[in-house]
Amino acid sequence: MVRPVLETELEFAHGLADAAGEIAMSFFRGTFEVRHKADRTPVTEADLAIEAMIRERVHERFPADAVLGEESGLEGGGDRRWVVDPIDGTKNFADGVQIWANLIALSIGERPMVGVVNAPALGERYAARRGGGATLNGEPIEVSRADRLGRAFVCYGGIDELLSGPHADAVLELLRDARRSRGFGDFWGHVLVARGSVDVMLEPSLSTWDFAALQVVLEEAGGRMTTFEAEPLAHGGSVLTSNGVLHDEVLARLGRATSS
Ligand code: IPD
Ligand code: CA
Ligand code: CA
Repeated sequence: MVRPVLETELEFAHGLADAAGEIAMSFFRGTFEVRHKADRTPVTEADLAIEAMIRERVHERFPADAVLGEESGLEGGGDRRWVVDPIDGTKNFADGVQIWANLIALSIGERPMVGVVNAPALGERYAARRGGGATLNGEPIEVSRADRLGRAFVCYGGIDELLSGPHADAVLELLRDARRSRGFGDFWGHVLVARGSVDVMLEPSLSTWDFAALQVVLEEAGGRMTTFEAEPLAHGGSVLTSNGVLHDEVLARLGRATSS
């Protein structure tokens, strides 16, 4: 039987996620050191240990592939790049809150093609490869069908940044007109959209390693992700994640409509 494209890489990413989860949980249940980086964001011993493990395993298994990780940057060149956020939600992790995940993606020519979002403290693993659908703990997931804002559950991360930026008024109005709104930051808001629990997630700024794995899962679940300006996602840019149906309505409210 012919193996589906990228199935080997998805299996490999699951193996990385198993190991990352074990390392993370061993620290999460005990005590660990938290340092502050130059940008004043925290990093723990667990972040560093997980990223080092992933780099080593990728070099061993796919020596020609590059690795881009939040903690140690880019190693290698070429078309295939493993994009890693060893712990997304480090502040939650450090505060003892269960909402954090190991984010592992494989991008080919800049496009994320495989994504695994591993949240062991929640008992949840989201995974996808292009063309293969998205799963939560092995079961298929899909986005909601909410078709207007008045029926939508909207969530957001980084409310301070949203309200001090150029979209402040539009965001406030959007949250007021939605059926429901809550602050569910980090990877969490995006996977809630992917599994159909939430309809829209607003994030003022994300790095490539924050969104690569999420994007494959969300798009394979039938959703859509762009910047607030309807552009393709870019390092450091805003991220609007939706069930697809609501995307243009939200873009229009943020000041930019598209037809796709
Ligand atoms: C953070 C999360 C969060 C985003 C921050 C990131 P970290 O990642 O992705 O959603 O708003 O900008 O720094 O530091 O917990 O991996
Ligand atoms: Ca992150
Ligand atoms: Ca991180």
